[in-house]
Amino acid sequence: MLNRQIPLSPNETWSDADGGLPVSAPESAEAVVVDQFVAATGRLVWAIRESFVRYVTLIARGEYTIAGGVTEGEDGQFAFPLRRAVQEGDDWRLSFGGSVHFVAHHGLLDVLIVDPELVVGPGGGVLATHVRGDADELIAMVVTDAASPEFSRKELVWQEVPTKLATAGAELLGNVYPKGTDMASLGIRVQLDA
Ligand code: HEM
Repeated sequence: MLNRQIPLSPNETWSDADGGLPVSAPESAEAVVVDQFVAATGRLVWAIRESFVRYVTLIARGEYTIAGGVTEGEDGQFAFPLRRAVQEGDDWRLSFGGSVHFVAHHGLLDVLIVDPELVVGPGGGVLATHVRGDADELIAMVVTDAASPEFSRKELVWQEVPTKLATAGAELLGNVYPKGTDMASLGIRVQLDA
């Protein structure tokens, strides 16, 4: 389904993912299925939040594991491989694969970011994570600023898209950071002709 709204967690809608930022969810815009003419290469690069990763590994002495094609840069950025890109009007729906799983405090802290889904456009965006065991559920992690890609040499590039913690994302992180907390910015690349 191309025009479906991104299903956020049961308590969230597009408009309250951030408490008011007008994130559009086009219902009827003509959909362009980009993966008909785009090799599915590309990636989402996201460091989540530097202090969170530091907390888990150094303070809580827990660990994180990456799987499903996620790679980790020296700069603490996690790169999730692109699975699917769909353009709907000025908005993009980008599906990524792979996971980063944080565990600490003997499993009391258990944060899984898996197969993230991003919808982003001129009205803002939402980055959501799937959950294990329920293919339909998505948890909105962060909302993003409005962002449109730069197009160069058959590549779409979103550089440093600012993000803020969404309500459900705050819950996922134990309600320690308030909703609206600055999180790491997103970097996205989609190769159109690989
Ligand atoms: C035994 C249970 C836990 C203990 C004793 C504990 C203890 C702490 C302490 C002492 C800090 C402050 C660290 C510092 O800044 O120096 C902290 C921060 C934090 N905790 Fe926990 N915690 C526990 C469970 C959890 C759980 C279940 C979560 C859920 C994901 C969580 C998420 C966080 C986050 C997000 C921070 C802020 C990290 C940052 O950005 O600085 N904690 N915790």
